[in-house]
Amino acid sequence: MGRVVCFISEKGGVGKTTACFEIGVALAQTHKLKVLVIDADYQRGGITGRLDSSLIANFTKGAMPGTTLYHKFQQLYSASPQTPDVDVRKSTFKIDFVPADPRLASVSEDKLPSGKTIRQNSALLLDHLMVIDKVLQPLRNDYDYILIDSHPEVSSLLRAAIFASDYAVSPVKLDLQSSIGVPTVIGEIDGVNDDVKSMQSTLGEPRVGRPGHGAAADLGRHGVEDARGDAARRAAYCSGTWSSRDDGQGEVSGVGDLVMRVSQSVSST
Ligand SMILES: Nc1ncnc2c1ncn2[C@@H]1O[C@H](COP(=O)(O)OP(=O)(O)OP(=O)(O)O)[C@@H](O)[C@H]1O
Ligand SMILES: [Mg+2]
Repeated sequence: MGRVVCFISEKGGVGKTTACFEIGVALAQTHKLKVLVIDADYQRGGITGRLDSSLIANFTKGAMPGTTLYHKFQQLYSASPQTPDVDVRKSTFKIDFVPADPRLASVSEDKLPSGKTIRQNSALLLDHLMVIDKVLQPLRNDYDYILIDSHPEVSSLLRAAIFASDYAVSPVKLDLQSSIGVPTVIGEIDGVNDDVKSMQSTLGEPRVGRPGHGAAADLGRHGVEDARGDAARRAAYCSGTWSSRDDGQGEVSGVGDLVMRVSQSVSST
């Protein structure tokens, strides 16, 4: 069963997309593993553009063709039956991917239909948290690793990515402001775990007793204190060497080492 790893930080430009892409390529091409990338950065779609440049124009159009994560959230908002299918595309990098959809910007719990009872509302909120996880359940058997790139913000979409993930990678640029993003990430993981725990008590254990791993579901079974420790253990922090070039782009000398270290540690777990 494939492991799910999300690349998260509320800080922009710290290397999430670069790490996700390069680690994906290293796992697929060096370690010969089956890799699926979920691009949840709906605004930039950096990975989508790298894997298939012909899709970039869809970001200007405001919608990605085919069935994407966006449609799965929409099913929930329109109270339609939830189906896990999304369009998985092939790339020349030996990585499969689900492209980012600009319409994911509209994902919000505010769009959920309102339930008549607290229990119904809790069930809807939990369904919202589980949207990405439900999409990945049938795909986990087809891949060794599923990597999720994310948008730099704390959002409902990010929380759904955290719920679906077994591990989180939060790259850190070597400055104070960027390192502040790390406690925020741990806080978000803890927040998802705490929410699952309280929803579990409202809905009863079987409601979230699913066979998959998933950071939140796994941690939720162990109580808050264990969850905090586990979340801290699970979060892998990466750093790269950062120095400005004349063109202002920054040197990428740290990336190779970062990719080797993370892909080795990921593939040895
Ligand atoms: N380890 C590294 N060392 C040096 N430069 C890096 C490193 N990782 C990424 N970069 C450079 O930093 C810039 C931003 O990287 P990237 O787009 O991956 O960040 P991001 O966190 O995904 O940003 P955003 O949050 O805006 O999506 C790029 O120009 C990239 O080449
Ligand atoms: Mg990015």
